[in-house]
Amino acid sequence: MATGLLRRGVSIARVSSTTPFTSRLVPARFHASEAEAQKVEPKASSGSNLKTFQIYRWNPDNPSKPQLQDYQIDLKECGPMVLDALIKIKNEIDPSLTFRRSCREGICGSCAMNIDGCNGLACLTKIPSGTSSTITPLPHMFVIKDLVVDMTNFYNQYKSIEPWLKRKNPPPAPGKEILQSKKDRAKLDGMYECILCACCSTSCPSYWWNPESYLGPAALLHANRWISDSRDEYTNERLEAINDEFKLYRCHTILNCARACPKGLNPGKQIMHIKQLQLSGGA
Ligand code: SF4
Ligand code: SF4
Ligand code: FES
Repeated sequence: MATGLLRRGVSIARVSSTTPFTSRLVPARFHASEAEAQKVEPKASSGSNLKTFQIYRWNPDNPSKPQLQDYQIDLKECGPMVLDALIKIKNEIDPSLTFRRSCREGICGSCAMNIDGCNGLACLTKIPSGTSSTITPLPHMFVIKDLVVDMTNFYNQYKSIEPWLKRKNPPPAPGKEILQSKKDRAKLDGMYECILCACCSTSCPSYWWNPESYLGPAALLHANRWISDSRDEYTNERLEAINDEFKLYRCHTILNCARACPKGLNPGKQIMHIKQLQLSGGA
């Protein structure tokens, strides 16, 4: 993937690059003015509670400037969550509206998006009060279509920390689990719950500026999850693998990541733990 295309400040005009795949992708930060936005007329009825959703639209098959499109729905005929509104719009107004969702209960992480300026899961975010809300893709990610972003770089960074148990010795009892004390198991709390939604990484300024060289809070949280696992025997190798000015030390402890996490996790704290271990010379 072309590095420069991911950075903030890249204009839409530059998207017509020489790289066939990335040329189809548009940075998520840019919107047409509201004046350019199309408007879908409301179906008003007496006693209705109308709300307008301005939703980011971009279609790679009909490439033009991304725009915010207005959809007005009656909240009295809609479930309470942002995902309910999106599904209602898709089912009843515009089947071309594209977004990811699966579980509808904050488990799969696929409905992550930016809602009124804050990253979150559409299925766990209540429809904000007020007459209008703006919904855009996760910031600083390439857009594939509408609210769907390209997660390739994010998943590759996760893969790079080798998120699986690594052993030098065979299990104590062949064919049996490798046991762990309750105290050691508790060290994984605050990390194992991560659903890889990317709300944290895409809210992190350091990740915006260095999306391919800085691993970002989600991947680093998982790095610490395996560093902290008493059953893993590659702790020092894991610490060494990310002991890097860019991979780890782009984190400046701003803690946007903790504010963004819909599961209440604190990736910044886990990153500090990794740094402390490195400063103290290992586990
Ligand atoms: S604490 Fe680190 S990872 Fe979290 S938002 Fe700040 S710079 Fe990014
Ligand atoms: S730490 Fe939280 S915000 Fe980040 S990927 Fe995991 S669940 Fe999502
Ligand atoms: S649909 Fe699975 S987390 Fe929202």
